[in-house]
Amino acid sequence: MNLKYRKTIIAGNWKMHLNADEAKKFILRLKPKAVQARWCDVVLCVPFLQIPAAVKAAKGTRIAIGAQNCHYEPKGAYTGEISCEMLAEAGVKYVIIGHSERRRDNNETDTTVNKKVLAALQAGLKPIICVGESLEMRDNDVTLDVVRMQVKTALRGVMHDQIRRVTIAYEPIWAIGTGYTATAEQAGEVCEAIREVVRQLYGARLARAVSILYGGSMNTANAAELLAQPDVDGGLIGGASLKTESFEDIIEAANQ
Ligand code: PGA
Repeated sequence: MNLKYRKTIIAGNWKMHLNADEAKKFILRLKPKAVQARWCDVVLCVPFLQIPAAVKAAKGTRIAIGAQNCHYEPKGAYTGEISCEMLAEAGVKYVIIGHSERRRDNNETDTTVNKKVLAALQAGLKPIICVGESLEMRDNDVTLDVVRMQVKTALRGVMHDQIRRVTIAYEPIWAIGTGYTATAEQAGEVCEAIREVVRQLYGARLARAVSILYGGSMNTANAAELLAQPDVDGGLIGGASLKTESFEDIIEAANQ
């Protein structure tokens, strides 16, 4: 983390968990911690249907509500899809784009990720762009090449005056939901390489201002060490974001 230049962000990715009542209770329990936690931005990326209840429960707190996906068109004949404009209208501030589960299960490519990033920015949302390598790529020593390409493609067409609203999450696929976490050094190395790509595209001043998160089995035991890396500015947290206690502990770990 580097609080001098950029925000620390602790973002929960609930995936397909928690119903509206559970979401409301979670947020009400989290409120006191969120009020106190001035050292970081707290984001909860909830299932689409839980957005209205979550936005209502989080009103007047420092908790921002995010979505887990969006479509890249503002409207049209796209059955089952939700546009960025609709999300913004519902009070959503952040949107996760290109999560590896969506790349795997919904054929999302770097090109569709790029379209969604541009659409999210256009609608006034803050995209959280997910990138990361498979175990095979890591074993073949192409992690940095793959991640650089993912970041570069995702940012194509993003203007200099928009890049501060972008967050990038490094999520090694082999660490998501598996209990295996990248070591702090591995996370730090890839996040540093991501910032270098942003620096090449937007210059040093703007690259310093972009928050880069780590995601993949981040929990109460490993958060402090991961967040101590200079280029790891927060976490995108799945499993450990489903219980208020563990999520609060990670928020606390960001208070170095
Ligand atoms: P995990 O999920 O913390 O359960 O590994 C992270 C994510 O998929 O964003």
